[in-house]
Amino acid sequence: MSDETLIGLLDSVWQHLGRGTADRHHPARHPTLATIGPEGPELRTLVLRRVDRAAGELELHTDAESPKALQIKDDPRVALHVWVPKARLQIRMRGQAILAAGDPAAFANLPPEAQANYGGAVPGTPVLGLFSRDTGDAARFLRILCRLKTIDALDLSDPHRRAIYRADADWAGEWVAP
Ligand SMILES: Cc1cc2nc3c(=O)[nH]c(=O)nc-3n(C[C@H](O)[C@H](O)[C@H](O)COP(=O)(O)O)c2cc1C
Repeated sequence: MSDETLIGLLDSVWQHLGRGTADRHHPARHPTLATIGPEGPELRTLVLRRVDRAAGELELHTDAESPKALQIKDDPRVALHVWVPKARLQIRMRGQAILAAGDPAAFANLPPEAQANYGGAVPGTPVLGLFSRDTGDAARFLRILCRLKTIDALDLSDPHRRAIYRADADWAGEWVAP
């Protein structure tokens, strides 16, 4: 596979995203998710749980009461960012987020400390002193399904190369100025 071709660079993007779901040390494990909040753009790190190249979809999990979930309900436009230093590859993605209930069986399989990420005090609300963990609530286990519309790949090889791929063009890409 060669990153010197449009398809080669796109293959490389999906390969890195796939590795992010399997390897906790791969930088694609922790994409930055951008939403549109009442005061402007909002960014935060999430764990990349699943990718589906055929569907152009990335799956993330969050607390249904979290501000990001409310922001997505108001405006489902999202962007994601990943920087893979070893590959010198920046991946920028935009799309529409769909909120879907988490799988109760998957929730039941989580250790209690992971379940606790989906429950208790609403993220970002004031708490008294150090926050002590509550128990998790399966009803707050939420999937964020990001249906991608564009992927923008910047490969800092020499010379730099950058391509934009669009879902509505069946992921055909075009080279753009880096
Ligand atoms: C390494 C790392 C991984 C994280 N993974 C998640 C995650 O998978 N889901 C999540 O909701 N928050 C995750 N967080 C916490 C979020 O970044 C954020 O602080 C929290 O979800 C509240 O975001 P919000 O106020 O924008 O809703 C993670 C934070 C870090 C630093």
